[in-house]
Amino acid sequence: VVTDEVVASLRDELVGIVGASDVIVSRDRLVAYERDWTGNWEGRALLAVRPATAREVAGVLVACSRARVTVVVHGGNTGLVGGATPDSDVVLDTTRLDQLGDVDNHSFQVTVGAGVTLERAQGHARVAGLDLPVDLGARSGATIGGMVATNAGGRLAVRYGTMRTSVCGLEAVLSTGRIIERLSGVLKDNAGYDLPALIVGSEGTLAVVTRVRLQLLRRPARRAAALVGARDYREAVALVSHLRARLSVSLEAADCFDRTAMEAVCAYLRVSDPLSEPHHVYVILQVAEPNDDPAATLAAAVDPELLDAMVIAEDTARRRALWTYREALNEAVGAQGIARKYDISVPIAAIPAFAEDARQEVERRTGATATVYGHLGDGNLHVNVLGTSGADDGLDVAMADLVAAHNGSISAEHGIGRAKRSFLGSTRSSAEIEAMWAVKRALDPTETLGRGCVLPPWDEPAAIERSST
Ligand code: MLT
Ligand code: ZN
Repeated sequence: VVTDEVVASLRDELVGIVGASDVIVSRDRLVAYERDWTGNWEGRALLAVRPATAREVAGVLVACSRARVTVVVHGGNTGLVGGATPDSDVVLDTTRLDQLGDVDNHSFQVTVGAGVTLERAQGHARVAGLDLPVDLGARSGATIGGMVATNAGGRLAVRYGTMRTSVCGLEAVLSTGRIIERLSGVLKDNAGYDLPALIVGSEGTLAVVTRVRLQLLRRPARRAAALVGARDYREAVALVSHLRARLSVSLEAADCFDRTAMEAVCAYLRVSDPLSEPHHVYVILQVAEPNDDPAATLAAAVDPELLDAMVIAEDTARRRALWTYREALNEAVGAQGIARKYDISVPIAAIPAFAEDARQEVERRTGATATVYGHLGDGNLHVNVLGTSGADDGLDVAMADLVAAHNGSISAEHGIGRAKRSFLGSTRSSAEIEAMWAVKRALDPTETLGRGCVLPPWDEPAAIERSST
């Protein structure tokens, strides 16, 4: 327990580092940090601090670790696993780490501050005719630092990979105050361990990311999107596999959502299903072409039998409107209540069986119909279950078992955070978890960063153990 005296003297020290206006102590301002937007996570912040440089971050971390006070990093608060919600911690808000570097037109790279939102980084790259290879629905709030910390995936991962693929360097601060800076962006750099790669996806438990060097891509000349209705997941997977083979790198995105999701988003946005008849599964596709007509390419590649259940959007406005059906789903579900969220991935071939098993499991245990959507092209489904406000750990365990049985991961893109911590052992062996703890202890010896996130406490075995090898 951190006493009021400790907090008061820490506050004075932090004011000396960042100035009084960037140390927040008033309760009415702290509440904004204390709740995640899904409503699943709520905690208490001792205070919040807003450093503007890596040096200030270093000062903050040293002061906190000396005072034995833990720190949770807060970007856009768009995470879904409680990783940014404080639990008697200091909140380190990255908002002021907001610099945009010049776009390097030789390497197609840019360095941006951790607190820059995805949308702002995209706007900056687009002015130079370039774009970010990662995109997701929460772009207006999600920060680049948070996306690096969680190795965000999103809708373009099937084509360009997750955040890790696009990070070609970073600056990060350890709780010891040491600053790791690797921002040259050189493609070939095999000198020693790849520390940036280790920090990507570490969810604020190893270091605080302060700046990121991003690989950009040239904007394709033309894009088209399409919504296709499928009879079931088997047909949807067959369609996507066929298109991946036919269209190769032209296929930029292949997301999906089920009928329950379509009904939820139509009610939320007060719009109607763009297809004339309801379908069990909807696939939303995006094709980019440097030279050819992407809509024609897409129409030619799709099985003629499916053309009746397909709408194509060619211009930017229609394309965005079509994607809104998919991208508003998280909010549409949130508007219905507090949802239990399972963010899983399985090999694509296992999607039809997994989706059916998951639907049955949810129905049997809760009586509710799951709302399922996700990124079909890379085997990532988001299973949302409403109306289970009382803890139903039985469902969590059953879903983890199901994922393991299908050779998948319990966290595809949202991370482990606090939400999935006790299930880490279902997809990671004890040898792996031991190695993770060794890294954690070496880089954050005072265990100042991200307490309770990612790793199960050392002395508490994970709730589910895959093996003891
Ligand atoms: C998405 O794909 O929409 C996001 O990962 C958020 C969610 O799971 O709801
Ligand atoms: Zn997603």
